[in-house]
Amino acid sequence: MTSSNSFNSNTAAIDGPLIDTHAHLDDRRLADGLSSVLDRARDAGVVAVVAVGVSHESSVRTVELSDQNAMIFAAIGIHPNHIAEAELGDWDRVVELARERRPKTVAIGETGLDRYWKNTPFADQEAAFDRHLDLARELDLPVIIHCRDCMKDIVDRLAARAKPIRGILHSFTGNWEEARTLLDFGLHISFAGQATFANKNLDSLRDAAILIPLDRLLVETDSPYLSPHPFRGRSNEPARVAVTAARIAELRGMKPVDFCHATTSNARELFRLDSFMKF
Ligand code: NI
Repeated sequence: MTSSNSFNSNTAAIDGPLIDTHAHLDDRRLADGLSSVLDRARDAGVVAVVAVGVSHESSVRTVELSDQNAMIFAAIGIHPNHIAEAELGDWDRVVELARERRPKTVAIGETGLDRYWKNTPFADQEAAFDRHLDLARELDLPVIIHCRDCMKDIVDRLAARAKPIRGILHSFTGNWEEARTLLDFGLHISFAGQATFANKNLDSLRDAAILIPLDRLLVETDSPYLSPHPFRGRSNEPARVAVTAARIAELRGMKPVDFCHATTSNARELFRLDSFMKF
């Protein structure tokens, strides 16, 4: 699938510790070779991965993966683009699963809003987003928020809610103004491979990555999507969180090791992983 040699040569400068806060490990592209995927992640300094569900079925699988692997934690929810295809009762089953309060189920999501894909009517996405936010608050779990082409909708929706909101705007592609609003709400902000792309229109994202306070920053892969440069266009995997971390550390003028320790400690605190981690 990927060449581990070329990968290692590109990430030799990083030895972690890193937490990939967003990976779709139940996706066939990762699940089929999961033990090698996790080996490569460990080699790259990754100490934990949050496996994020996108449907009821996928959430069940992420919970199973978290039961089977010490380094995997689960987030459960129904992705905005999967709401329309969900079966009657799927949301109730997600709620039931969340209320089991399994110790390695550490977040609610992936939820959010998406105006790019047209899979789900927007009003249905909004209703589902509200339900996820309510559930996260009820269980005092962080919420993982997806936002594509609708930052204003997200901000408006969150503005109406009680603060602080514990959670993450994941795979952030906005600018510093938008980041500041989300930070004011109480959210953390997580960066994926886009931070490494050369595109001019991502310069404002890079400015945000420099200005966001270090204690509110997270990194992720969103694998199997969004492979960082120079792997862009190929199937992504948790090991490559190191590439994104190295790039943002460079942008901020930080030693990669300091950046890794800081973002990993943010993730440990937000997801309350301390009892699982021995360092
Ligand atoms: Ni995702």
